[in-house]
Amino acid sequence: MSILARYLVTAAIPYANAPLHLGHLRSTYIPADIYVRYLRLYGHDAIYVCATDEHGTPIAIRAEQEKSSPRKIVDRYHASILQDLLGMGCSFDIFSRTSTSVHRESTQEFFSRLLEKGYIYESQYEQLFCESCNRFLPDRYVEGTCPYCGTKAARGDACDACGRYLKPTDLVDPYCVLCEGRPVVKTSRHWFFKLSVFQKEVRDWVSKNPNLPGNVKNYALNWIDEGLRDWCITRDLSWGVPVPAVDVKDKVIYVWFDAPIGYLSSTKIWASKSDDPEKWRGYWKDENSKIIHFIGKDIIYHHSIFWPAMLMGVGEYCLPFAIVAGEYLTLEGRKMSKSRGWVVGVSDYLEDFEPDSLRYYFIASSPLGKDADFSWDEFARRHNNELADILGNFVHRALVFTHRDFQGKVPDPGEFDQYDQKVLDRISETQCEVAEAIECFSFHSALRTVMDLASIGNKYFNDKSPWITVKEDPQTAKTTIYVANQIVKALSILLEPFLPFTAERIWDTLGLEGSVHDQNWDDAISPLPSGQRINPPTPLFKKLDMEKIEAKKMKLPKLDEEDDIAEVTIEEFAKLDLRVGRILEAKPLPSSDDLIHLTIDLGNGVVRESVSGLLPHYTPEVLRGKSVVVLVNIRPTKILGSMSEVMVLAAVDGKQLTLLIPDRPSEPGTHIK
Ligand code: 2FM
Ligand code: ZN
Repeated sequence: MSILARYLVTAAIPYANAPLHLGHLRSTYIPADIYVRYLRLYGHDAIYVCATDEHGTPIAIRAEQEKSSPRKIVDRYHASILQDLLGMGCSFDIFSRTSTSVHRESTQEFFSRLLEKGYIYESQYEQLFCESCNRFLPDRYVEGTCPYCGTKAARGDACDACGRYLKPTDLVDPYCVLCEGRPVVKTSRHWFFKLSVFQKEVRDWVSKNPNLPGNVKNYALNWIDEGLRDWCITRDLSWGVPVPAVDVKDKVIYVWFDAPIGYLSSTKIWASKSDDPEKWRGYWKDENSKIIHFIGKDIIYHHSIFWPAMLMGVGEYCLPFAIVAGEYLTLEGRKMSKSRGWVVGVSDYLEDFEPDSLRYYFIASSPLGKDADFSWDEFARRHNNELADILGNFVHRALVFTHRDFQGKVPDPGEFDQYDQKVLDRISETQCEVAEAIECFSFHSALRTVMDLASIGNKYFNDKSPWITVKEDPQTAKTTIYVANQIVKALSILLEPFLPFTAERIWDTLGLEGSVHDQNWDDAISPLPSGQRINPPTPLFKKLDMEKIEAKKMKLPKLDEEDDIAEVTIEEFAKLDLRVGRILEAKPLPSSDDLIHLTIDLGNGVVRESVSGLLPHYTPEVLRGKSVVVLVNIRPTKILGSMSEVMVLAAVDGKQLTLLIPDRPSEPGTHIK
């Protein structure tokens, strides 16, 4: 990336209805911050824009539950969310709100423009209505069973379990979240965006965009190929951006229509605070500008389909250059759940620990496109063994040595031997590799490369043993300490996107002018001059207090086993080799009351044995000849002296076992997917 460009980096705007928790940071805010910090260091014109999402049913419901007003709720959470994000080092150029007048006008302008162009039409629409509350039940005002995956308590706008976008009338057995009453269906006047018209244009854009990561592209194409349906973009609510039509009351624009416009309105507000209020245009209307949205994977649909289609419909605006979607974060191996208290709040974390340790953990623990887990023990391990023992240790040794043995001044090097030169070369290689990795959003591998440089520094220091050479061959010691200081300086710049607080501390200790945040990426490879006076160093990282870690663990609720059903990915499910098998022989195991030994034909001459607890439920005679569902690749085991190589599946209802039988005749060996 040598040509300097203009970038607008956004992070999904969080609902102002709850405090932030660690999941949001890992998927969205920290990756976006790393990226924008890097762009700025590189010299690009890059701004980081975010806001709170202050409309929609999440806020309205929260206000009703707390017997408060939406305004009070959003004021409270805007302040707390912003404080948490700043505490974590997020370097926003603007963190605005969607309840501003600029946002309302921008949203209404989008709506009116699409209406003029014929992309929005009006229609009567069936809505759920709660007669006891005497109100319509948009989106999250209603819950019920997901029609796609059968999960109970799916919300009226989406199912968290299968990720489907829903409308309230899709739900099976819906109920009002306020009174649990059964709603009725009533028609109401609403406006629709002709999403279906954009099927081909959005598909082409997704499939041809080289900057969309694999997870975003795959999800989006799957949804598009199911066929895009027109989208109802208004709601019967009083909190939100009013529909810009004279004769309507208590109808607002759907929050998912206005939310992404928040990126635009926030940019306008940012510009309005500068000496050039029109400069937002350069980020949104200049075709060379690059808009990059960082989001969590649950909102890929909105960013890869709705939002580009809205932009295509309005015209004039740039389409996203890239959309980066972070996968989920689990907590101690379980899915996070606000309702069960299985979350760690950002403010709770920041009460006891440093922001950089968490930033490090998130990036180091796994790539953004893979799920990650946060565990307090692993967090402590990474902090102690990696940040403190590798990075902190190297920087401290180099600086302490400089201070103690060279009067706090970077010494003059002698001639570099091969090893010195190799290490110096490694600094510039690292700088290139880290840049390349960040540019393709591989933050995990970028950070590993930086940490490798610290490890190389440690090894170099040990190999060169300056504590010996300083007595026996002082010139060699000087060269070693000079080279070590070059690494320290490089680390300060290279770490800035990842660990901004630590980077600044190193920069200060090196006695360099200004702030590391204002330097240039190439300063990582410009030498720290000999004679540079450094400040007395203090350790970068203290080992974590394990009592504090234990206290955090104790704060998590005790959950039942029942609550503990982990999600599996489609890839994990695909590892199960499930097939139709025909029971050839069934014999009770002599030493057991309920176990039965089965011989099962799995087709193609494959015959396997299984021991199952079917005896109280089926007699051997009934079992013979039955086709059943078999898990073929379970690890074989011996049960009461008989081999059990495969597992026969059954529905378990209390103590009753019911075999799963194919609905139509199926040959042994047929795959089950
Ligand atoms: O899912 C959410 O938390 C939404 N508030 C994200 C909105 S992102 C964008 F569209 F503005
Ligand atoms: Zn009700």
